[in-house]
Amino acid sequence: MKWTATRLVSVFLLVGLVAVSVACGGSDTSNNTNNNANTEPKFKDLGYSDKLTFMGTKVFDTFKDMFIAHDKARYTDNWSCVTCHGKDGTANKYKMPGGGLFPMDPNNPIAEDDATYGAAVKFMKEKVLPEMKKLLQDDTLTCFTCHSKKE
Ligand code: HEC
Ligand code: HEC
Repeated sequence: MKWTATRLVSVFLLVGLVAVSVACGGSDTSNNTNNNANTEPKFKDLGYSDKLTFMGTKVFDTFKDMFIAHDKARYTDNWSCVTCHGKDGTANKYKMPGGGLFPMDPNNPIAEDDATYGAAVKFMKEKVLPEMKKLLQDDTLTCFTCHSKKE
């Protein structure tokens, strides 16, 4: 997937908006949706098209590199938005969990020494979940932000 000049331009516009809202200070309480902090807005407070840009510019490559470092053979030629969002991701406007990922039982977590999935569980706990929380500035994310729950 290619991220074109247009996308980069929207990123600069976004950065510009942040700069403006920082310059205006935090005293304007009449509009507390987006500019209530002197930092970058949280992912969940972005509009839909800014969320798309954020995914394409910040999330996509970070996790691509991380997953390839974890399992080169599996992810080198096999990484896309669909890897997280599922094959119906686009049609479903990227609602998460998209249903494409390994379903798990929330009451019976897989152990880190599980013969089949232990290494994946460890990778998810130590790398994937913390990095996503940090990038999206959202501590409420869990395994089930991405994975569906087993019936
Ligand atoms: C590493 C996994 C991962 C990849 C790869 C990924 N996303 Fe996401 N995406 C997420 C997560 C996690 C969320 C946030 C869910 C939440 O906040 O509850 C999200 C949210 C979104 C949203 C916001 C949906 C909403 O309802 O607000 C959009 C739009 C989106 N992604 C588009 C994309 C696009 C386009 C790509 C490919 C360029 C992509 N994503 C790649 C994990 C991923
Ligand atoms: C940001 C989204 C995201 C989060 C959060 C996340 N995962 Fe994953 N998980 C993935 C992706 C993407 C894959 C790889 C899917 C593939 O290879 O098709 C995966 C794969 C797995 C697998 C391996 C399944 C297989 O087929 O080998 C296990 C097990 C797993 N995750 C457990 C967890 C656990 C436990 C947590 C919470 C600590 C978690 N995941 C959090 C996105 C996520």
